[in-house]
Amino acid sequence: MSTIDYYNWRYATKEFNSEKKITNSDLEIIKESIRLSPSSYGLQLFKVFIIESQKLKDKLRKVSFNQSQISDASHLFVFCNYTKVLEKDIDLYIQNKSLIQQMPITKNEGYGVFLKKNLLKKETEETSIWTNNQVYIALANLMTTCASLKIDSCPIEGFEASKYNEILNINERNMNAAVVCAVGYRSKLDTSQHEKKVRKSSQDLFEII
Ligand SMILES: Cc1cc2nc3c(=O)[nH]c(=O)nc-3n(C[C@H](O)[C@H](O)[C@H](O)COP(=O)(O)O)c2cc1C
Repeated sequence: MSTIDYYNWRYATKEFNSEKKITNSDLEIIKESIRLSPSSYGLQLFKVFIIESQKLKDKLRKVSFNQSQISDASHLFVFCNYTKVLEKDIDLYIQNKSLIQQMPITKNEGYGVFLKKNLLKKETEETSIWTNNQVYIALANLMTTCASLKIDSCPIEGFEASKYNEILNINERNMNAAVVCAVGYRSKLDTSQHEKKVRKSSQDLFEII
């Protein structure tokens, strides 16, 4: 199958088969697709909670407009963006880069100073918008990877972020639940799988100038 076939195959799954779970090896591939996603300056200012606990999924469904995907999916991915950039985030990145690329840390220190000068002064709101945007790149990679593995998914913004933040206890960790993705296998009864995709025509969507 080509990438375009994957995009045609996937759909926002409305009803999952709650009995069918994704395997650990597939889970590792999905995690890797998120880990390898690009981010601004490479800082990866987000955390992804992977929820397997049925009890927790049931609890989150209550603050997700009772959407069944939340509790019936095999795994729930909660993408949380950082609401602040801390000096230690930049220091860790510089240390990691130096270690992985086998460079003396002194070679990367200047870049660290540059990042701190640009990022530490940002207001919380500006930082949040910036980091929030970036989780969507990882979300898209997750969905494409799932489709390539014939695993279904549903991106979800219909949830109460403040309640998620409380339940996951992430306010004090300067994180915010940005977007969720339910991952698993479609139910045979999900009628949405038979619906034709509704998309604008290329003519409407693109302008070559
Ligand atoms: C950011 C985002 C948030 C979404 N939130 C929800 C949601 O809360 N519940 C839901 O059932 N579908 C949700 N969707 C699915 C869209 O409605 C769906 O992707 C769109 O109608 C196109 O259909 P398709 O994905 O089946 O091709 C969301 C999609 C995106 C990209």
